[in-house]
Formats: sequence, structure tokens, C-alpha cells
Amino acid sequence: MAILTMHLTIRRAEPSDYEAIVKIFSCPKVIWGTLQIPYPSVEQWRKKLAEPAEGFYSLVACVDGQVVGQIGLQTFPHRPRRRHVGDVGMMVRDDWQGKGIGTALMQAIVDLADKWLNLARLELGVFPDNAPAIRLYKKFGFQVEGTQVAYAFRDGQYVDTLMMARVHLPPK
Ligand SMILES: CC(C)(COP(=O)(O)OP(=O)(O)OC[C@H]1O[C@@H](n2cnc3c(N)ncnc32)[C@H](O)[C@@H]1OP(=O)(O)O)[C@@H](O)C(=O)NCCC(=O)NCCS
Repeated sequence: MAILTMHLTIRRAEPSDYEAIVKIFSCPKVIWGTLQIPYPSVEQWRKKLAEPAEGFYSLVACVDGQVVGQIGLQTFPHRPRRRHVGDVGMMVRDDWQGKGIGTALMQAIVDLADKWLNLARLELGVFPDNAPAIRLYKKFGFQVEGTQVAYAFRDGQYVDTLMMARVHLPPK
């Protein structure tokens, strides 16, 4: 991984970040690696950030004040038997990938989950050919639990999804 020489900060996403976030969601590699659809709507993202779903924590990575990556953690405060779980999704702008931004975002969300939200299980789905994402998730203790066959449609073809989870139970 490249050594970071830029000034990187992680903070909560704010409604005013919507234009930068649409720019990230417009990147070809981001669309390829996620379930986003090309041509994201600026207005839909403005609304989504202004009225976040309950239990949703969204962090952004900023380099010299510019938003270049985002990670979201959806929790389930109203589902008593899933209160210990969080769903993770993340993306880094195409021109900033491979520079440690994703690692910094994941470290921040894992710390939030472990040390403040008391989540025991983090879950995510990843396409089997997304090598950088799988490497990043394994680095943080995520393990493959199974394959969902033909889970999504991507660029004209069905694609499987690996279900990964990181289980962090308190010592007995
Ligand atoms: C996946 C993603 C979030 C990772 O963020 P990032 O800033 O690029 O990640 P980092 O630079 O912190 O680390 C990536 C790791 O993958 C490794 N990597 C990079 N290219 C790789 C490749 N072709 N094969 C295997 N590993 C690779 C890097 O070496 C690094 O591992 P290391 O820290 O052990 O050296 C980012 O690439 C991205 O947004 N991709 C498009 C959207 C997406 O796929 N989101 C995830 C959906 S599940």
C-alpha cells in the first residue's frame, strides 16, 4: 500500500456533502463494485443525506478537506434480536483507491462498532472478483460465510456475492 503523505481526516457525513458523494457514486469502479446504478441523482442523494435512516452511521474520508470516500453502517435499533448487528458498505473515489483511504474508513467504523455501539457482528456482501475489497475485509477479520449465487446483475451479467462477517464477541 502507498504511504499516506496527505492530510487525511475521517468525520461524520453531513447533508452538505451530497455533491462530493454523488461524484464518488458516479465513478465506474465504484458502480462496478457496489449495487449502485449509473447516473446517480443529485437530488436523491441530497434528500438521503438530509434525512438519514434511523440507526445509519455514515462517515466520510477527507483529503485536504475534499471528500474522497464514504463508509456506511446500518444498525437495527428496532429489531431486538438483531441489535448486535451492523451492515457495512463502503466506497472510495476511483482516483483515490489503493492509497489507504478504505483502510482508514474501515478502522473508524470498526472502532465505532466495537467501542461505542457494542455491535458483535458486522456483515457485508462483496463480489468474488473484487480482490482489493476482499483483501481489505480479511485484514479486519471478516470471514467468508457463503456465496449467494446470481445475487446481482452487473454490466450485462449475473454475478455472485460472497457474504462476509466479522464476529467480535466479548470475552466470557
Ligand atoms: C474496496 C475499496 C473500498 C478499498 O478502498 P481503498 O482505499 O482502495 O483500500 P486501501 O488502499 O486501504 O487497501 C486496499 C487493499 O487492497 C490491496 N489491493 C489493491 N489492489 C489489489 C488487487 N488487484 N488485488 C488484491 N489486493 C489489492 C491493497 O494492497 C490493500 O491491501 P494492503 O493494505 O494489505 O496492502 C475501494 O477500492 C473501492 O471503493 N472500490 C470500488 C467500490 C467497491 O468495490 N466497494 C466495496 C463494495 S463491497
